[in-house]
Amino acid sequence: MNHDVFEKNSLILLIGILIVVSIGGLVQIAPLFWVDSTIERVRGMRPYTPLEQAGRDIYVREGCYNCHSQMIRTLRDEVERYGHYSLAAESMYDHPFQWGSKRTGPDLARVGGKYSDQWHGDHLTNPRALVPESIMPGYPWLAATPLRTDDLKAKLQTLRMVGVPYTDPMIDSADRDLKAQIDPDSRAARELLTRYPKAKIVRFEQRAIKEPSEMDALVAYLQILGQMVDFATFDASGPNLR
Ligand code: HEC
Repeated sequence: MNHDVFEKNSLILLIGILIVVSIGGLVQIAPLFWVDSTIERVRGMRPYTPLEQAGRDIYVREGCYNCHSQMIRTLRDEVERYGHYSLAAESMYDHPFQWGSKRTGPDLARVGGKYSDQWHGDHLTNPRALVPESIMPGYPWLAATPLRTDDLKAKLQTLRMVGVPYTDPMIDSADRDLKAQIDPDSRAARELLTRYPKAKIVRFEQRAIKEPSEMDALVAYLQILGQMVDFATFDASGPNLR
């Protein structure tokens, strides 16, 4: 037929290829943005508390992702070392996600609950105090640096704009919730738990400053990693999906 038009003119061939490839792309990719079933909802996932979210921002600021991934692959050695493989839903509220691929240190996707708050505080201040052969840098200033909180509400509001389901009460009480997470046994801490189930109140034997520090935030973040979904009862075939 007229196929030689394409064969003899490279520009027409190029345009032809582009048209065919775009049709394929549209058919395969476009529906994913609308089909609900592409978003796997898993019970237990909730937005980060204000303190965890602030800690996450410090994690990104300090470049922890340069040495640590947060993505347990489905391979047997990974699952035996770290626990259940990572679910897409576990990073649904991460903007941006911290999957990474560089592992100078271990994967941190399930580090929550593995150590005490004090261990993390000491380790981040001077890793070699606890792990003599460690090559991780120390972050001794975190414990003495007050956490910046003036941008807290704006932060949560911005995240809401990109789809993180922060409610109005969550945004209104952001400052209170942030302080509550370093105030064990307080009423505010109990209220925090009604808004953010499984939030861990950060406890240190001694604190360098009274107000919430960058260390409090980072440790709150590390302690929730891998903790939101209950893997003891999780069944990937469906009944636990919400
Ligand atoms: C230069 C690479 C490097 C950077 C940057 C780095 N780490 Fe590490 N990290 C390591 C190594 C190596 C280990 C293993 C030795 C150890 O436990 O100290 C480790 C261990 C850890 C552990 C213990 C994990 C476990 O399961 O035992 C945690 C938690 C951790 N790092 C958090 C952080 C955080 C938070 C940051 C950013 C503030 C950070 N790391 C930055 C290299 C790094």
